[in-house]
Amino acid sequence: MRRGEKIIYAVMAVVVLAVMARNVFTIETQKQPDKGIPFYTTANHQLMREASDIYRVQGCRQCHSLWTVKNMMETVPAPALDGIGSIRTEEWFYNYFSAVSPQTILPSRLKKQYSMPSYASLSEHDRRVLAQYMASLKVQDWYLEQTKKMEYEKLTGKTYKN
Ligand code: HEC
Repeated sequence: MRRGEKIIYAVMAVVVLAVMARNVFTIETQKQPDKGIPFYTTANHQLMREASDIYRVQGCRQCHSLWTVKNMMETVPAPALDGIGSIRTEEWFYNYFSAVSPQTILPSRLKKQYSMPSYASLSEHDRRVLAQYMASLKVQDWYLEQTKKMEYEKLTGKTYKN
C-alpha cells in the first residue's frame, strides 16, 4: 500500500467509526422509558357520560379536538382541550361558558364565526357539568413542563430554565 492510500483508508475508518458511535449514541438516548399518553381525566363514569352527551350535542367537536383525536372535518384552529383542566379552574370554565361574550374573558384571534360561541343559554346544570368535566381533563406534570419548555424556546429562542 502506498502512503497516500494508507491515509485515505485511515480517514475512511475514522468516518465509519464516528457514524457508528453516533448511531449507538442516538439509540441510547431514544431508550428513555416510554411515558405513555400524558392526558387523563379524574371524572367519574356519570360525569363523563353526561358531559360527553352535552359536548356532542353542542357540537364542541366541530372546532375542538379532545383525547388527541383530531376531527378530520375540523377547519377551525381552536385550542385542543386535552389537559386543559391542569391550567384552569372549574370556576373559570363555568364563567367562560356563562359569558355572553367569552371573548371578554379570553380574547380571540379569529373571525367571529370561528371563535368560541357563547353557551350562556345552556341550563345552569349543563354549564356546571361541562365546567366540571373540563376541570377534570388533566395532563401529567412532565408533559406540561416539556410543552412549556418547547413553547418558551420557540417563542423566545432562549433556553428554558425552571
Ligand atoms: C365555532 C367553533 C367552536 C365551538 C363550536 C366551540 N368552541 Fe371552544 N373555542 C373555540 C375557539 C376558537 C377558542 C379560542 C378562543 C376564541 O378564539 O374565542 C375556544 C376556546 C375554548 C376554551 C378555552 C380554551 C383555553 O385555552 O383556555 C374552552 C374550555 C372551550 N373552548 C370549550 C368548548 C366547549 C366545551 C364547547 C362546546 C360546548 C366549545 N368550546 C365549542 C371554538 C369553538
